[in-house]
Amino acid sequence: DRGGFPHFMLKEIFDQPRCLRDCMSGRLFDDKVILSAVRNNRARLLSATRFIIVACGTSWHAGLIGKQLIEHYCKIPVEVDYASEFRYRDPVILPTDVVIAISQSGETADTLAAIKLAKERGAFIFGIVNAVGSSIARETDTGIYIHVGPEIGVASTKAFTGQLTCLTLLALALANAKGTVDHDEFVSLTKELGQIPDKIDKLLKENDCIKQLARTYTYATNFLYLGRGWNYPVALEGALKLKEISYIHAEGYPAAEMKHGPIALVDNMMPVLFVATHHEGYEKVVSNMQEVKARGGRIIAVVTEGDTEVQKIADEVINVPSTLAPLAPLLTVIPLQLLAYHIAVEKGLDVDQPRNLAKSVTVE
Ligand code: F6R
Repeated sequence: DRGGFPHFMLKEIFDQPRCLRDCMSGRLFDDKVILSAVRNNRARLLSATRFIIVACGTSWHAGLIGKQLIEHYCKIPVEVDYASEFRYRDPVILPTDVVIAISQSGETADTLAAIKLAKERGAFIFGIVNAVGSSIARETDTGIYIHVGPEIGVASTKAFTGQLTCLTLLALALANAKGTVDHDEFVSLTKELGQIPDKIDKLLKENDCIKQLARTYTYATNFLYLGRGWNYPVALEGALKLKEISYIHAEGYPAAEMKHGPIALVDNMMPVLFVATHHEGYEKVVSNMQEVKARGGRIIAVVTEGDTEVQKIADEVINVPSTLAPLAPLLTVIPLQLLAYHIAVEKGLDVDQPRNLAKSVTVE
């Protein structure tokens, strides 16, 4: 049931506020985070010397943000691997490692094989999975369900923001148990996380503007997505969404890498989408924007509400409500999902069933 929406993808994008409330329900409180998986495995998790996140596609992008969250709040080193690379590389896995597997479907063959390998070598396996009772959920030692409901559209949307929410809850629960986070910082983050669904509701009101904007870009055959820090994985995710459903070649990069190669591609036929929220690194992203502008590139910028500096440079500006830097991806990804959706619809493509793709990749 598409609930009155023309496609499952659009429904699932609009479902995100409700889904994230479900994901946080019974877990997030103003001054504490309760995750039974953490409470029941406290000693094992707290003694971990390293976390290794394994996932594919969109779930791997969530993993990149998970790394930043866990390193920042818990001070534990984290590696993020494509499950398909990890399993074939003869990786070093220690019995003190905790492997986090992230998967919407819980059936991705490479992710399943990666955790089987890690388990054989004595690591403890923690799952962040949406599909209840799926193969990956059954193979893990413990974990948290994403609880965003079934995702039907092939392009992952609500599962991604659900994964980010779970990773934030996990980082906070661990940090609190380890004593690596200052109490005031903890409370300001839990409070702000609780506000995210309302902020997404507000952001979704930009849908008509983004639809309008999408019309301008259906001609494009290439796109660059750039972001820094917390928003760098969002740039990768925005580019993946565009490739998958609109068949426009898009690349995501950390903004600072632009001058090491991709800038050679920029001309007046190359739209560049910048994720430039008002957080650390903002000024640097703005100067990258100026370099693109000087080369004739067309600029779409996702900025924090009230931004005036980018307004002067960018061709199009999309505003997102302000939030704390570690939570910014939960907001900045939403306009990127909508942009990919509307460009694909404008091109007359089958958004829910893009060519060559399957919802769960059960082959290697
Ligand atoms: C992107 C997408 C894929 C999946 C990937 C992993 O929109 O849907 O990249 O994210 O195949 O799938 P799961 O999370 O089910 O393991």
